[in-house]
Amino acid sequence: MPSIRAPASKKTATLLVAVKCRPLTEAERRRNRNIIQVIDDKNVVVLDPDLSKDYLDRIQNRTKEKRYCFDHVFGHACTNSDVYKGVRSTIAGVIQGLNATVFAYGSTGSGKTYTMVGTQNDPGLMVLSLNTIFELIKNDRSSDNFEVSCSYLEVYNEVIYDLLEKSSGHLELREDPEHGIVVAGLRSIKVQSADRILELLNLGNSRRKTESTEANATSSRSHAVLEINVKRKQKNQNRNQILRGKLALVDLAGSERASETNSGGQKLRDGANINRSLLALANCINALGKHQKKGLAYVPYRNSKLTRILKDGLSGNSQTVMIATISPADDQYHHTVNTLKYADRAKEIKTHVHKNIGIIDLHVADYQKMIDNLQVEVCRLRKELAEKESHVNVQSVEKNSDGEISWLNTLSQETSENVQERINLQKALFELEETNLRNRTELQHLDDAIIKDKDDAIALVLKSRRQLILDNIRDNEETGTVYRKVLESPLLVCFHIFVAPMNEY
Ligand SMILES: Nc1ncnc2c1ncn2[C@@H]1O[C@H](COP(=O)(O)OP(=O)(O)OP(=O)(O)O)[C@@H](O)[C@H]1O
Ligand SMILES: [Mg+2]
Repeated sequence: MPSIRAPASKKTATLLVAVKCRPLTEAERRRNRNIIQVIDDKNVVVLDPDLSKDYLDRIQNRTKEKRYCFDHVFGHACTNSDVYKGVRSTIAGVIQGLNATVFAYGSTGSGKTYTMVGTQNDPGLMVLSLNTIFELIKNDRSSDNFEVSCSYLEVYNEVIYDLLEKSSGHLELREDPEHGIVVAGLRSIKVQSADRILELLNLGNSRRKTESTEANATSSRSHAVLEINVKRKQKNQNRNQILRGKLALVDLAGSERASETNSGGQKLRDGANINRSLLALANCINALGKHQKKGLAYVPYRNSKLTRILKDGLSGNSQTVMIATISPADDQYHHTVNTLKYADRAKEIKTHVHKNIGIIDLHVADYQKMIDNLQVEVCRLRKELAEKESHVNVQSVEKNSDGEISWLNTLSQETSENVQERINLQKALFELEETNLRNRTELQHLDDAIIKDKDDAIALVLKSRRQLILDNIRDNEETGTVYRKVLESPLLVCFHIFVAPMNEY
């Protein structure tokens, strides 16, 4: 398949990893020691709470401290606004057509939901990011048009639900050749203000599955993904483009050991599924971390819905931020070290960021650029031919009084025709690709309608239309392959064939 994205330059980005240590809760303060020391805004130390090792460590001159360095470290006194200052620049790129992902990672009760959703007095990153997006749009000096839409889903027990639908059915993931992983049938609501998204966010949160567990009174039982899409129509005369930025904000479900949460039955089953996807996420982080260090490693995205949804954020087109949340309580030592270990590995992960430039307008811009290039090429060839022609003239006057050089004119004409033909072919290829893009969009709508519509007669009509579209796509692709082959053949073939005898002349 040809790439139909804009040939915008790709930039390799490294995952930005920040650590947020929450304060001890009232109850913890009575029975726990603080084992976290935030050294400065980048370094954190975890103390081993096992005092019995103290003596051994002292005589062997060992340190019990584990020290880690990250892009940002936030101590217990920091607010969500402080954390947000470290990630704001990533969010700002969304209105310029860039993708961004922010996810909180940590054990149950470590403060993921607090960081992402927050409270009235300390709004979380979801709320703060939304405010930034609308603020940037409001203050934008260009005459561009902006359109913002949002969707909110949860993955509960390996099933995807739409949090913006009152009684959402199970939604399926689909791999779209153009848009990557998409959730079929997920509602995307157009919004005009941050307040409206906040309303939707609160509505979604009220539908989200939470449980009271031993480890956390309001433990999230599902992974939640809030996605904000910003479509920017540029009005610049020369670059009539559409930029599409996407921001995914993810609050993961709580991971815990069954023994810790005192859970059984449904809770135990939820826990097993949550742990399965978190394990898959940890394995992906591990593999991607290795990947950068040791060459290619298999990344098990397919092991859970969560990792498939997060695939772009972990290795694709996204500027990604991981907020590792930790508890300072000594009884959370193993969880804390585990979280920091994965966060440390995540520092190695690289993504490839590029602007998403709208396809229809991309074609116009791209097409213009290609014609310009070809015209430069025609001028160059004409000049080269004129030089050869005068050279041949001189030689022919000297050596051959007949001076038969009319074939040079033929060559010049043929080269021009060849270039013109290629321009036409490229035009046709763009049109084919555009038609197929429309076909695929229709295909997706049809698929959604087929799933939803229970009426057999309607389903039959939809299915036959679907088959027609599929046939069209296949035919267009075949024609496109032929066109591309011609376009990939060297432009100057005829020129070289003629140049050889000319040099020997
Ligand atoms: N920075 C903070 N300041 C004050 N309280 C916090 C902070 N972070 C977390 N808490 C409190 O700690 C408790 C657990 O936080 P939260 O529910 O965010 O954890 P979680 O990581 O989302 O857990 P789970 O994985 O079980 O959903 C809550 O009572 C929350 O209010
Ligand atoms: Mg939570």
